[in-house]
Amino acid sequence: MTQLGIIGSGAIGAALARLAVNAHIEVTIANSRGPETLAELIDELGHLAHAGTVEDAARYGDLTLLAVPLISYPDLPIEALSGRTIVSTGNYYPYRDGRITALDNVELTTAQYEQKLLPESVVTKAFNNIVAHHIPLLAHSQPPTALPVACDDARAKGAVHGLVEALGFEAVDAGSLADSWRFEPESGAYTPIYAASAEGMAQDYLADRGAPLPAARLRELLAASHRPDVAARQF
Ligand SMILES: NC(=O)c1ccc[n+]([C@@H]2O[C@H](COP(=O)([O-])OP(=O)(O)OC[C@H]3O[C@@H](n4cnc5c(N)ncnc54)[C@H](OP(=O)(O)O)[C@@H]3O)[C@@H](O)[C@H]2O)c1
Repeated sequence: MTQLGIIGSGAIGAALARLAVNAHIEVTIANSRGPETLAELIDELGHLAHAGTVEDAARYGDLTLLAVPLISYPDLPIEALSGRTIVSTGNYYPYRDGRITALDNVELTTAQYEQKLLPESVVTKAFNNIVAHHIPLLAHSQPPTALPVACDDARAKGAVHGLVEALGFEAVDAGSLADSWRFEPESGAYTPIYAASAEGMAQDYLADRGAPLPAARLRELLAASHRPDVAARQF
C-alpha cells in the first residue's frame, strides 16, 4: 500500500501517521478544526504527509483510518466514505461517548455499531486494543508484536493485515465484527496485554515501556477472552 487517509490527528492518529511515513506511505490527515491547524504535525511528519479536510482524508488512498472518538462517528462524511475500507480504532467509553443502548446491552459490538453508522463502507477493527504510547515502542519489536484485525470481508481484512504489517506489527485474524468484543475494553485481549508490567501500567500507564506480544500468545488471549459487562462500564 502506498497511501493512507487518516481522520483524527490526536494520540492514535498521529502515532500511526508517524509509522506510516516511516514506512514510506503517503498520508493525508484531517482533524475537526481544519487543515490549517495541522501545520506543526505536517512539519514533523515531512514531505509524505499532507493536511486535508475530513472529506479529503476520507477519499484519500487505499484505506481510511478513523482515529476519532465514537461520539464523532455520526458526523463523518458517509458519502465520501462510501465504498471505502475503513480501519476503525474506536472504542466505546460512555464518559466521553454517552450511553449507547445497543452497546450496553451487548446486542452489537462497537465495530458492528460503527458498521451500522457507515453502511456504505467496509469497517475493519484494528489498532484499538493498544495504547497510543505503546505504538512507537512496540512497532518493529523483536519478536514482532501481534495486533488483532476483525472484519466481515476477506479482501478488506487482507488489505488491513497489509497495513498492520507495513507499520511494523504482526496481524492476527480475530474473526468477524461480531467476534471483535474479544479485544474491546476490559476484555482479555485489551491494552494491558502489551504492558511490560500490567500492575505498573495500572499505577502509571505512561511510564510503562511495553513488551512484545507474539502472535501465538495473542491467539490464546483472544480464545480465552470474556465478554465484558458493558452496561457496568463507568469510564
Ligand atoms: N489514546 C489511546 O491510547 C487509544 C488507544 C486505542 C484506541 N483509542 C481509540 O481511538 C480513537 C481516537 O482516540 P485518541 O486518543 O487518538 O483521541 P484524541 O487524542 O482525543 O484525538 C481525537 C481526534 O479526533 C478528531 N476529531 C474528533 N471529532 C472529529 C470529527 N467529527 N471530524 C474529524 N476529526 C474529529 C480530533 O480533532 P481535533 O484535533 O480538531 O480536536 C482529534 O484530532 C478513540 O475512539 C479511542 O477510544 C485510543
